[in-house]
Amino acid sequence: MTKSITRREWLTGTTTAAATGLMLSTVSATAQSFMQPNINPTAKNPIRAHLNENAYGQSLKARKAIAAAADDSHKYAFESIFEFLALLTKLEDIPREYVMVGGGSTEFLEKAAVFNAIEGGDILLPTPTYGDIARFGRTLGSKLIEVPVGEDMAINLNAMREAMTDNTKLIYLCNPNNPIPSIIEKNALKEFCNEMSEKATVLIDEAYFEYVDNPSYESMISLVKENKNIIVTRTASKIHAFAGMRIGACYAHPDIIKKMFGLFTNTLNLPALRGAIESYQDMEYQAFLKQKNSENQQIIYKMLDDLDLEYVESNANFIFFNAGRPSSDVADTMKKHHILTGREFKPFTNWVRLSLTKPEEMQYFADIYRREFG
Ligand SMILES: Cc1ncc(COP(=O)(O)O)c(C=O)c1O
Repeated sequence: MTKSITRREWLTGTTTAAATGLMLSTVSATAQSFMQPNINPTAKNPIRAHLNENAYGQSLKARKAIAAAADDSHKYAFESIFEFLALLTKLEDIPREYVMVGGGSTEFLEKAAVFNAIEGGDILLPTPTYGDIARFGRTLGSKLIEVPVGEDMAINLNAMREAMTDNTKLIYLCNPNNPIPSIIEKNALKEFCNEMSEKATVLIDEAYFEYVDNPSYESMISLVKENKNIIVTRTASKIHAFAGMRIGACYAHPDIIKKMFGLFTNTLNLPALRGAIESYQDMEYQAFLKQKNSENQQIIYKMLDDLDLEYVESNANFIFFNAGRPSSDVADTMKKHHILTGREFKPFTNWVRLSLTKPEEMQYFADIYRREFG
């Protein structure tokens, strides 16, 4: 006889060990990674704390929809695109002409960089920050104006104002930032967006939006409705765990959306769309992931406090800390234990970006880190 375990029991951890074992034995190998922490990592199956992925994987409802979509994948996905668009417009309370979906948010960063290059504009951006916009700009021959973060490790809006050139046509802000998981205070950001969007397009990359739990933070999607020159990008790659499925969204004035659509290459796939439609409605699973993320943060903060290491409070699913030694040394040592940590981010060569995975894995990381460097 099969004992069924309710989703709530599992989410709240009230399943018995026996029942959990039974459940694990009846799920696929892939689904096991959803539940079990990887506390015996190997070279082939390391703890992936290097790419800010969601270690728990997709919601069960999304997984079901993704698997079922195989039966329909010979068809173009237009109906599902419209269904997902309708869901996003409802969730964000914004008219449909203001939204476009794509195969990951990178697609929209690329298009924004292309439009900027066509106009011959410079790109103004903080440093360090997420690297793709700079990569596209460089490839397209655009001048990059990179403004170092402030002493508080946050994006320095005043320094960005001062660095603005007459030829700046695109401003990139990542909020929360990456690799430094700091946020920009909401009122200062609104003021900056309204002021600077008179001179250039302001793109706010909100890849980690769902993880933020900070009263000083606000999405800038509300500004898009009033301001012609603001773009907000979002992704399903982070809390929704769709990094390998590719779903992203862009919110902007219909004139910008029309331009973006002019470069639409239909990178969307049906299983990803069907899965995303389920995932974006699965608030219970998102709450669970936020709870786990907060547990992860507490485990790593404790280790850092005990070792007296400096760090930036996280507003996302990763932590940036000063190891007091080259981050490449930390990465090499942890790799021997089959734990992958973030790459080096100049000029913060002694700082490590650690992606938060599962509490048990973070405890394993902390124990090894103390042993190696404590
Ligand atoms: C700030 C930021 N923007 C965009 C992306 C890429 O997102 P996507 O997978 O939607 O292309 C990442 C991925 O790490 C990111 O950190």
